Amino acid sequence: MTNVPKKLFIKTYGCQMNVYDSERMAETLAGQGYETTQDQSEADMVLLNTCHIREKAAEKLYSDLGRIKPLKVANPDLKIAVAGCVAQAEGEEIVKRAPMVDLVVGPQSYHRLPEMEARIQTGKRALDTDFPEDDKFEVMKSRPKVARAPAAFLTIQEGCDKFCAFCVVPYTRGAEVSRPADRIIDEARGLVENGVREVTLLGQNVNAYHGCEGGLAGLCSQLSQIDGLERIRYTTSHPNDMDDALIAAHGDNPKLMPYLHLPVQSGSDRILKAMNRKHTAEEYLRIIERIRAARPDILLTSDFIVGFPGETDADFEDTMALVREVNYGMAYSFKYSVRPGTPAAEKPELPLAVMDERLQRLQALLKEQQVAAQEGMVGKTTTVLFEKRGRTPGQWGGKSEHLHAVHVEAEGELRGEIHKVEILNAMTNSLTGRIIG
Ligand code: 5AD
Ligand code: SF4
Repeated sequence: MTNVPKKLFIKTYGCQMNVYDSERMAETLAGQGYETTQDQSEADMVLLNTCHIREKAAEKLYSDLGRIKPLKVANPDLKIAVAGCVAQAEGEEIVKRAPMVDLVVGPQSYHRLPEMEARIQTGKRALDTDFPEDDKFEVMKSRPKVARAPAAFLTIQEGCDKFCAFCVVPYTRGAEVSRPADRIIDEARGLVENGVREVTLLGQNVNAYHGCEGGLAGLCSQLSQIDGLERIRYTTSHPNDMDDALIAAHGDNPKLMPYLHLPVQSGSDRILKAMNRKHTAEEYLRIIERIRAARPDILLTSDFIVGFPGETDADFEDTMALVREVNYGMAYSFKYSVRPGTPAAEKPELPLAVMDERLQRLQALLKEQQVAAQEGMVGKTTTVLFEKRGRTPGQWGGKSEHLHAVHVEAEGELRGEIHKVEILNAMTNSLTGRIIG
């Protein structure tokens, strides 16, 4: 009898950490005979890797489950699995609300997927949202040797001890844990052997990494000794964990790319305090100043929340002023979303219309800055790591040092190559250029 591989369809919501987790879950389930498919209708298992950060993100799970229901009715053998932060936060509630779900697994227990999968094949349900003692990365130590894309994510730290008043992460992902550096180096080496040239180190609070001497700067320094690994990035960071060594590394370590996501959330000291961010706007600006002194061309990005409970017009203007002062290359901005169980959930919400208006104004300013940053690249030379062919034949696309998408006209195979590119044109979301070296 031949073993026909079962098909696994994964949908990933939310952050890059989930992208990494989805990849690892797919690798784990490959051991159970699954291969991934992009076509949901041929799936034997649909796995939804969910996000709980804002209400809308969480609700997507239930609307998607509603859409999947006819598939399960048509094919009762179809298995439905829910992973990620909604799984962690809601656990059994999910199967109460959507009884067709077979498997619920939290972000810290997906190394147990093989046993869980075997269980659901017997018609039972499997639910695991523990914060287990065993470390999933130790259990799933080696990764398969398969060809990989030139840029990869690598989780080095999980969880968060900061407890910002609006945020569910400390509850869904748990306390801060750093992976040991030697494990990370091994994983990075394996990735490089399989085609990776750039890694983005991931963690909810990645710059609080303490898995080796020298923290994240020390880890970057060790990683930069790996031949063939040309570029290192990391995300996402808390301003208070930008230590001297890490700031210095931005000037000293040529493999560390000139790009930093450093969320500030608000420019108002009153709101920063209410958010429990533990720094002022001025302190944030001084950190930015020091980072720019170390690496003058660094591209800075951030996250903002508008309409946090109690935010006045004056507080919001402080945010606008901070944005003008920093001048970001790109930023994400969100309306405050109440998350049950967080301290801020106790406080009265602002009217939606106020939040909408503020968000629009903030996004207009951020867009202006993003466009200016893109246009500022025209005439400059950068390096590009080429990742894939463009939609039009004879075109290749990749990422610049500053993480801009760049397209060039080129024949032949450029995947995984890094070339010097002169930037010729700026569009809204990408740049075009020509290879000069
Ligand atoms: N409401 C709105 N935005 C939020 N974020 C986190 N929690 C909330 C919330 N309750 C945003 C923050 C964070 C990003 C990942 O998501 O800006 O940096
Ligand atoms: Fe959430 Fe704050 Fe931790 Fe970021 S630092 S994950 S916003 S609690």
